[in-house]
Amino acid sequence: MPLTDDQPDPTPADRAVARPGEFAPLTLGPLEVWPPVVLAPMAGVTNYPFRSLCREFGAGLFVSEMITARGYLNGHELTRLLASSHEGESPRSVQIYGSDPLDVGEMARALVADGVEHIDLNFGCPVPKVTRHGGGSAIPVKPRLLARLVRAAVIAAGDVPVTIKVRKGIADDLLTFLDAGRVAEAEGAAAIGLHARTAAQLYSGRADRSAITELVNAVSIPVLGNGDIWESWDALSMMRETGCAGVIVGRGCLGRPWLFRELSDAFDGRTPAPPPNFGRITEIMIDHAERLIDFFGESTGMKQMRKWCTWYTVGFPGSASARAALVRVATIDDMLAVLRRCPPDTPFPDNALRANRGKGSRTQDVTLPEGYLEQRDDDTPPRSAHSPEELAAWERALQGG
Ligand SMILES: Cc1cc2nc3c(=O)[nH]c(=O)nc-3n(C[C@H](O)[C@H](O)[C@H](O)COP(=O)(O)O)c2cc1C
Repeated sequence: MPLTDDQPDPTPADRAVARPGEFAPLTLGPLEVWPPVVLAPMAGVTNYPFRSLCREFGAGLFVSEMITARGYLNGHELTRLLASSHEGESPRSVQIYGSDPLDVGEMARALVADGVEHIDLNFGCPVPKVTRHGGGSAIPVKPRLLARLVRAAVIAAGDVPVTIKVRKGIADDLLTFLDAGRVAEAEGAAAIGLHARTAAQLYSGRADRSAITELVNAVSIPVLGNGDIWESWDALSMMRETGCAGVIVGRGCLGRPWLFRELSDAFDGRTPAPPPNFGRITEIMIDHAERLIDFFGESTGMKQMRKWCTWYTVGFPGSASARAALVRVATIDDMLAVLRRCPPDTPFPDNALRANRGKGSRTQDVTLPEGYLEQRDDDTPPRSAHSPEELAAWERALQGG
């Protein structure tokens, strides 16, 4: 079984399925999540069509992509669509992206009124246009600002659990995850998810499990470990090694929604079935495309499907040459015409199990606002649309009930 170059082969103990009672459900306020598996919020990926597809394979908590609080509150049509769901999705979970307590609190309140049952806050975004203005992964650099944001969401959400998701920090010399964990705990967050890489690392290298262990030891709220869950046994070994209360699965399920069935099997003590062959994957792709078309309409749905075509077919014979045609498909029939080039009984290629879909392996120098590190004690929201007085009055009103 091929692993990445720098990873030792798993031992049989690493690959062992769960023993009865070995793991507990993940408790987030009133929610009990079994298996303790969370679909990572992923922009352009974890919309309702993909969440509903994953849920057909296995159980867990399936989080929306990040939804910008400002766009949502302004009633931006696409933002509202991306935050939406269909009847029967439960627990319904939405990730908020925002750096202004009033926006984040008001959005949390609106989501709860709309039936959302779990809210996650994004404090890990490494994108330069976000960190340059003090948003995303720059926020935990200022623990008092982070506290203000978490508090606003927790109070506004009432009984609905709020979790936060962070990275290890900006770079190895500016780690923020332990401070973030303490803030999350103090402000009433139900859990903290740690993507165990820094913003400088983006998606390169291996997730640092020792940081997850450190966070587990530092806080009393549940810690969700995130990074490099490619196969079901990765989830179990991460929980065994770090003591985390659950895992967040990102790139491993891109083009592999059946990973959630494998995870359910492994946590329930069953040996997961082998991955589907190409014929079955074609059926899953048709199902996925139909869900995207139902949700976005044919034109946008099929444009969205193009990247999925690449992810579903990675590693299959002829996939590299089929890619040029797959990224142009405009209908399901177009897609099938290309997929017919590969025999349906072709088995899933071993080398596609741990293929890095979705993001490259580059790193970056993280850009922060001028003078940002000299004001780490500051709690002023960056680029707020509200005056400090308006914000303070709103926070007083929120705390008053
Ligand atoms: C395409 C893509 C989009 C992402 N969008 C978000 C997002 O909207 N919110 C967020 O908190 N993290 C986002 N992430 C990060 C993932 O949630 C996750 O933390 C990261 O991929 C590490 O997990 P993995 O190693 O299992 O992929 C994104 C990742 C990818 C690959």
